Amino acid sequence: MATEADRLDGTEKKKEGKKRLSLKSKYLRFMNSVGSKPLRVMIPEQEFRLGSSVKVTPIPLIKEKGQEEVELSPLNEPYSYARIKYDTLLNEYLYELIEPSLSMDERNVLRTLKEALIASLNMSDDEDKEAKEKSLKKATRDVMNTLDVSLNPVSMERVFYYLKRDLVGLGIIEGVMLDSNVEDVSCDGVNIPIFIFHRKYGSIRSNLKFEREEELDAFVVWLAQRSGKQISVANPMLDATLPGGSRLNATLGKHVTKKGSSFTIRRFKDDPFTPIDLVRFKTMSVDMMAYLWLCIEYGSSMMVCGGTASGKTTTLNAVLLFIPPQMKIISIEDTRELNLPHENWIASVTREGFGGKSANMAGAVDMFDLLTAAMRQRPQYLMVGEVRGKEAYVVFQAMATGTIAYSTFHADDLGAMIHRMESEPIKLPRSLMTALNIMLLQGQVKVGTKMTRRVKSLTEIVGLDPETNEIIYNSVFTWNPADDRFHYSGHSYIFEKIRLSKGWSPREMEAEMRRRVLLLEYMRRKNVNNYMSVAALISSYYRDAEKTVAKVEREMSDLGALGQQTGQQTAAQATGGNQ
Ligand SMILES: Nc1ncnc2c1ncn2[C@@H]1O[C@H](COP(=O)(O)OP(=O)(O)OP(=O)(O)O)[C@@H](O)[C@H]1O
Ligand SMILES: [Mg+2]
Repeated sequence: MATEADRLDGTEKKKEGKKRLSLKSKYLRFMNSVGSKPLRVMIPEQEFRLGSSVKVTPIPLIKEKGQEEVELSPLNEPYSYARIKYDTLLNEYLYELIEPSLSMDERNVLRTLKEALIASLNMSDDEDKEAKEKSLKKATRDVMNTLDVSLNPVSMERVFYYLKRDLVGLGIIEGVMLDSNVEDVSCDGVNIPIFIFHRKYGSIRSNLKFEREEELDAFVVWLAQRSGKQISVANPMLDATLPGGSRLNATLGKHVTKKGSSFTIRRFKDDPFTPIDLVRFKTMSVDMMAYLWLCIEYGSSMMVCGGTASGKTTTLNAVLLFIPPQMKIISIEDTRELNLPHENWIASVTREGFGGKSANMAGAVDMFDLLTAAMRQRPQYLMVGEVRGKEAYVVFQAMATGTIAYSTFHADDLGAMIHRMESEPIKLPRSLMTALNIMLLQGQVKVGTKMTRRVKSLTEIVGLDPETNEIIYNSVFTWNPADDRFHYSGHSYIFEKIRLSKGWSPREMEAEMRRRVLLLEYMRRKNVNNYMSVAALISSYYRDAEKTVAKVEREMSDLGALGQQTGQQTAAQATGGNQ
């Protein structure tokens, strides 16, 4: 359920829109609301008696019948927590966001402070979260001095939690947005619980919801404003990037979504998944990662395919770490998601026209425009967040003329991908299709009882059969659902190409592969999974391969690991076919 503070928030926003109250009249209203009570707000006596154990947010007991706690984790200690419950009657998991509960007096103070702050606070969007919090703290102190309100320390913490949540954070959803286990947050309409997609438990209902239509509409409009965009009755659909980088899709009112306004937020990770994380999650094997490393370094283009939320963008972002550091990179996206450590990188984002989404609006800059501009800047690596329409043609043309390109494409299997590429609106000629080197197919699959993500296949496009005009493929790695293992086909056409172009013997090619497996294996064993640290090791390899490998080998033998890792054996297999 929405907390009392949120309900007040809704009324407040409405009133605020109608007329701006002077500080004096706010104060009078506040005086009326507290009546004859003393202005010093106290927490209830029994809480005080608990002495030093008085908590800003006590964890409530579970009152609902049939529900039991599965896990409790702090989100922003000591203010907010996430509790996963299991409902034994409905046989489902539930997500409970636990925030401070406010007494009547605390609520009144919160309301007054918030109104005064909304009227007086002038925070620039350029400021970062900490700077904003600092100015909010100062402004709150000033308003409290002016109104002569004082709170005991615990109440102050509680009230300030909500002020910060609503004025600096993302309001009612701020709590769940802090949870690194949450992938998506979606609100399907009024009076429907907000659903979250939990990394471990999948799509589960939360204890948050909007109870009134105006409240939800106001929230969606506010989210749009926070993203620097607009949503209105005239343009009721929105794709945007929230401060902090999460992707927002929203609709306003009942025009396009019958249950009222809705929104879905794909939570952005500031520290994106690295190749090591993906190996650790068994999304792909260390050999597949080493294979991709070599392919990316030596200029193979790749398309990451899969269904919705199969992890396409995440995989793409992770493997793009293998692009040598000094390369000129241009990325093009509708909403910014890619996050790279490279310095020579221009990240461009499309823009809607003035007046909304419809085509040909003045000022609109779409993917096609950005791509055409990008090609003039001669990038070595080109990334397109997702191809859907005519821009696909330009991407394939870029590949055909020597630009190394990466993109994601929504298709559940490779047949569907080729079919969609070749039909309207993309209409890609088959001969251009062969400019693409690798297709990676990823999916959300069930392993045992758990939903997880696997790269189902890594397929090379070898060329066109001159007689039948069919595309010739080579599936280098395939995932076997029966034993949850990856199978190597025994031959890579791309490796053969790299080998010939470099003039390497099969043995030298194998050594190249082994070195990368070694580095990846080293990072996995050493638990190097922070994005920047992984990038640092990769770039040190590019700077001085011999030295880096020697250092890693030394440390690995200190770990007593050399020769024991399974990676080496399979790496040899992976290149064995080329001998
Ligand atoms: N290999 C993985 N293991 C675990 N979680 C993952 C993995 N890949 C992605 N995720 C998580 O899944 C969610 C969806 O990922 P992502 O945005 O990459 O999917 P997508 O296929 O690009 O989705 P869309 O179709 O919306 O573009 C994210 O929250 C991400 O953190
Ligand atoms: Mg994506």
